[in-house]
Amino acid sequence: MFFHPLQHILSMAIALLLLIIFSCQTIVFAENEPLFACNTEKDPSLKNYSFCNPSLDVKTRVNDLVKRLTLEEKIGNLVNNASSIDRLGIPGYKWWSEALHGVSNVGPATHFSSLVPGATSFPQVILTAASFNKTLFKAIGKVVSTEARAMYNVGLAGLTYWSPNVNIFRDPRWGRGQETPGEDPVLASKYVANYVRGLQERDDGDKDRLKVAAACKHYTAYDVDNWEGIDRYHFDAKVTKQDMEDTYQPPFKSCVLDGNVASVMCSYNEVNGKPTCGDPDLLKRVIRGEWKLNGYISSDCDSLDTMFNSQHWAKTPEQVAADALNAGLDLNCGNWLRDYTMGAVQGGLVEESVVDKAVSNNFATLMRLGFFDGDPSKQMYGNLGPKDVCTPAHQELARDAARQGIVLLKNVFRPLPLSPTAIKSLALIGPNANATTTMIGNYAGVPCKYTTPLQGLSDSVVTLYHAGCSDTKCANAQLNEAREVASAADAVVLVMGTDQSIEAESRDRTSISLPGQQNRLISEVASVSKGPVILVIMSGGGMDIQFAKENPKITSILWVGFPGEAGGAALADVVFGRYNPGGRLPMTWYPQFFAETVNMTNMNMRPNLTTGHPGYTYRFYKGTTVYPFEYGLSYSMFAQWVVRAPKSVKLSLDEDQVCRYPECEVVEVSDNNCRNSGFEVVIGVKNVGNMAGSYSVLLYSYPRWIRNVPQTDLLDFEKVFLAPQQVTMVTFHVDGCRHLSVVDEDGNRKVALGEHHLQIGDVTHYLYLET
Ligand SMILES: *[C@@H]1O[C@H](CO)[C@@H](O)[C@H](O)[C@H]1NC(C)=O
Ligand SMILES: *[C@@H]1O[C@H](CO)[C@@H](O)[C@H](O)[C@H]1NC(C)=O
Ligand SMILES: *[C@@H]1O[C@H](CO)[C@@H](O)[C@H](O)[C@H]1NC(C)=O
Ligand SMILES: *[C@@H]1O[C@H](CO)[C@@H](O)[C@H](O)[C@H]1NC(C)=O
Ligand SMILES: *[C@@H]1O[C@H](CO)[C@@H](O)[C@H](O)[C@H]1NC(C)=O
Ligand SMILES: *[C@@H]1O[C@H](CO)[C@@H](O)[C@H](O)[C@H]1NC(C)=O
Repeated sequence: MFFHPLQHILSMAIALLLLIIFSCQTIVFAENEPLFACNTEKDPSLKNYSFCNPSLDVKTRVNDLVKRLTLEEKIGNLVNNASSIDRLGIPGYKWWSEALHGVSNVGPATHFSSLVPGATSFPQVILTAASFNKTLFKAIGKVVSTEARAMYNVGLAGLTYWSPNVNIFRDPRWGRGQETPGEDPVLASKYVANYVRGLQERDDGDKDRLKVAAACKHYTAYDVDNWEGIDRYHFDAKVTKQDMEDTYQPPFKSCVLDGNVASVMCSYNEVNGKPTCGDPDLLKRVIRGEWKLNGYISSDCDSLDTMFNSQHWAKTPEQVAADALNAGLDLNCGNWLRDYTMGAVQGGLVEESVVDKAVSNNFATLMRLGFFDGDPSKQMYGNLGPKDVCTPAHQELARDAARQGIVLLKNVFRPLPLSPTAIKSLALIGPNANATTTMIGNYAGVPCKYTTPLQGLSDSVVTLYHAGCSDTKCANAQLNEAREVASAADAVVLVMGTDQSIEAESRDRTSISLPGQQNRLISEVASVSKGPVILVIMSGGGMDIQFAKENPKITSILWVGFPGEAGGAALADVVFGRYNPGGRLPMTWYPQFFAETVNMTNMNMRPNLTTGHPGYTYRFYKGTTVYPFEYGLSYSMFAQWVVRAPKSVKLSLDEDQVCRYPECEVVEVSDNNCRNSGFEVVIGVKNVGNMAGSYSVLLYSYPRWIRNVPQTDLLDFEKVFLAPQQVTMVTFHVDGCRHLSVVDEDGNRKVALGEHHLQIGDVTHYLYLET
């Protein structure tokens, strides 16, 4: 999402103008009353309406409300800036808020003010994913929804959040890869289910009600923003059934089925020739039919305009409105449905009953949020307020999340952790060495405060700072000055990488090397340093830093993603050994050659010998990498082994399925025809080093050969904390049909009978599947 650059400039200009007007008249902008319907204290007659009665079920209330509305009133509630219905005591509701990694003011419904000047800004999602810690994913969601509710209570925020972004980070050049949980469908699925539950679930366990509503976006196969003249508004993603089922769809499916999300947002791009927001197969059949979404389907801002004006999908605007509604869209970010639905109904292009269904899904979501239950201060979470935003505990979680995600990529002869007493002076060099806004990435808000790398490291040792370049583009590195600073210090930390000027929404990269003269600055600084040289990469996507990996003068490398408001403090914790890093890369780091030869619009996950396409991600790409998926070191060492796992597993099939290995080799895994009571795989883990630390145990399966299956597939993961010499057991629950199956070329799940491989580190366990 969301703005064309021009709109950006325009909205900034308007904001500036408003600021001037308001500051001249000294009008206080902050409202401090929440918006809600059914204010029965103010208007007791509202008590007569069933839709205002919280003791009735949502369906009854929604039906009662919708049957009272005129078509025009319904249409006014199909758009993100929804119209008020004054005669029924319903205020206009603004649907668009964002909370990707903290409450954000990107959506027009959420603001900061003197009452709540900032909110806790967690690391950008790609770094949180690197923690491989499900508990953390949920814990962050929970804090974000608490702060969101607190801000809603004082009229500063909405209740519907269009986060998270769960598209697979397929290509390293994607400017929005930073917003996602990485390249692996299982990691992404676990991230999204946990983050969404953290956002939505109420402490009283009432599944019908929501703390706030999340939305998984951008459905689907959306991961080209703007590359070599091809933008997301015009891009038609050609996706095979196989890639669709085993790569692009799983995070969305998990979002709905495991996360019980309240919304899915369709994307701008077309998939196989159809705009996603107008495709009944993608929306109605899959999201509603198969996954049974309990909530609303929204469009991106402004997908329907894109359908008409960029994709020329239909001849009239009314036809676009009708197609979207008929496909299953409920809410339009933008004005399209407000402007063209009446004409579409009158023209017979869409039935009013379809409008009823759409608006019912929207109202049902608001009801589950308590919006129709009267005064929020009398409801659950009604006592939350400004005091609950940016609390010390929330800010500590932001710092811990960054620490948990930071990935140690190189540490030859173990110069890290540094001893703050042995190091008399530390040179801190690089365009991100004193980063603030860069640390919070995009879809951020205003953080509680920043701790920059310079501040974080200066808390422990004397630092000498030099930016080395005027910005991350680093057109002209200040080599002499940087060398001078570096040569005077006992150790050097270089904080390099990118920011939103290099990788961002509407900005895909063409190069995956460090920008401008960064490589040169790093090498020259390293050459004059007398002690350890620690290279810190602050970026969303992977970087070709092969030169640094190979340079013996560069003793350590850390990747810190965009680490959030406490990034500098977290970095210092890792550098000085107050925290033992255990993050792992959630995406492959490819060589620059990849960016120069692979066409980013090629959506095929699988390699193709004819075209020379090398394929994407650790599951399919066989070429060289700079660092592979899951790579990450620790200051300690861990050993793992199989404690217990079956050697054979029996699947039960439908009675009418006759299938005996070896005559029958594969079994379809649809609906109920394959059942497995599940089995346990118990892994032992020991910290064999001398520093306490966390370790993520990753369980993979090597699928048996059905055409074009992944080389290996992450099945599940679990993170454990171990003191030196401590041993623990990790138990994975595996369902033979679900977890050991693969997707065939027609998009159907199949499980191969016979030998299967499970992989944990360098340990392989063989098991037989039989019927
Ligand atoms: C609500 O009910 C009261 C009686 O209980 C009645 O006097 C009033 O007119 C009703 N209002 C509406 C809007 O129906
Ligand atoms: C929102 O819609 C209302 C009418 O329902 C209109 O008056 C207002 O200008 C709209 N605001 C924006 C920001 O579009
Ligand atoms: C580092 O950044 C902070 C926050 O923007 C700023 O106040 C400070 O002056 C900067 N320090 C240096 C040495 O540039
Ligand atoms: C990438 O592939 C598309 C579709 O085959 C083609 O239209 C486009 O020109 C290619 N772009 C580049 C830069 O090779
Ligand atoms: C490889 O690409 C060629 C040319 O586009 C295509 O005809 C063929 O089906 C592809 N092969 C596979 C296995 O996808
Ligand atoms: C996972 O995250 C939670 C929540 O922050 C934290 O308490 C726990 O220690 C983490 N687990 C490990 C093994 O690091």
